[in-house]
Amino acid sequence: MVRLILDSSAGGYPVLIGTNLQRELRNVVTRLDPTGAAIITDTNVRPWAVKAAKAIKRAGLKTAIHAVPAGEHSKTMSQLQHVLSFLERQQIDRGGCVIAVGGGTVGDLAGLAAAMWQRGVRLIAVPTTLLAMVDSSIGGKTGVNGRRSKNAIGTFWQPSAVVSDLAAIETLPAPSYRDAFAEVVKYAVAMDRGLFDLLQRNAPRLADDRDLVMLQRVVFRCVAAKALVVAKDERDRGPRAILNYGHTAGHALEAASGFRISHGRAVAFGMRVAADIAVSMELCSRRVAESQDALLDVFGLPGRPPRADPNRVIAAIALDKKARRGKVAWVMPRRIGHAEIGHAVPGALVRRAVTRALA
Ligand code: GLY
Repeated sequence: MVRLILDSSAGGYPVLIGTNLQRELRNVVTRLDPTGAAIITDTNVRPWAVKAAKAIKRAGLKTAIHAVPAGEHSKTMSQLQHVLSFLERQQIDRGGCVIAVGGGTVGDLAGLAAAMWQRGVRLIAVPTTLLAMVDSSIGGKTGVNGRRSKNAIGTFWQPSAVVSDLAAIETLPAPSYRDAFAEVVKYAVAMDRGLFDLLQRNAPRLADDRDLVMLQRVVFRCVAAKALVVAKDERDRGPRAILNYGHTAGHALEAASGFRISHGRAVAFGMRVAADIAVSMELCSRRVAESQDALLDVFGLPGRPPRADPNRVIAAIALDKKARRGKVAWVMPRRIGHAEIGHAVPGALVRRAVTRALA
């Protein structure tokens, strides 16, 4: 097992990454010494919530499990209301804690409930997907979707601990496992050359074998990369935008395809588009784009060309939520392991790159 201590305005918190971490979860709960604990999970990963409940009971606490329907469609105000009612029934007081066992949807929903209940109770994140381990469990973003807008209703609420049990990854469906590598490659290209080299050397072992020893190194490096940038910009007002690499065109493709394409495939598409534009603008060499794309190929990302109308993708890019006064700020790779935020891109280059990536 490896452990990192992450900085946050609410104090440092540990992130534990390893295999079969029930005892570590028990120790985390013992150390936090909450007055009560409520587990939020989803219907797909209930067995992991049951394991967590056993660990919590061994720490001498009673707990109960609330499972929301699995899937992004549970990130709603109405599911949030159910979670809050559950916390009320469980009589979680200000000294209590919420334990989120699941992927990004559960983490975002339970995190927001923890931030709101009693004006904020502690949160322990137990991510069960690779994507949640490398991204959403770190950095304190919580939220639910509005009727028309993703993650529109939320807050920043940092966890008190994150316990990433890699054993959960063994049971992940293949598409969900593969998809997470879009975010992993994102960290590598935008922030961490060493991670890029590690991925290049071990991509087949990771893509086909789910080698847990190698995954532990990968998750550790992704968390460390994200932690560095979140420590500089916890509330996402500036440098944290680097984590948006690949997301400008990626989010646009998700929207243009009616959210029928997975986030990972969309982000991989977005990274290809951004790197293609960066080559055209002479911000990076063609080699950078080619080696990024070759690595994405090993993980089958984005797979067959996404089916979407280029005009709709281009229109959606203009509506990017990180745009300021109508100007879209792109994150652009300069070399492997280093990207820059805030680049303006001529419309003709966007059109050419999007059209090429959809061909
Ligand atoms: N997933 C991007 C961020 O946490 O800022």
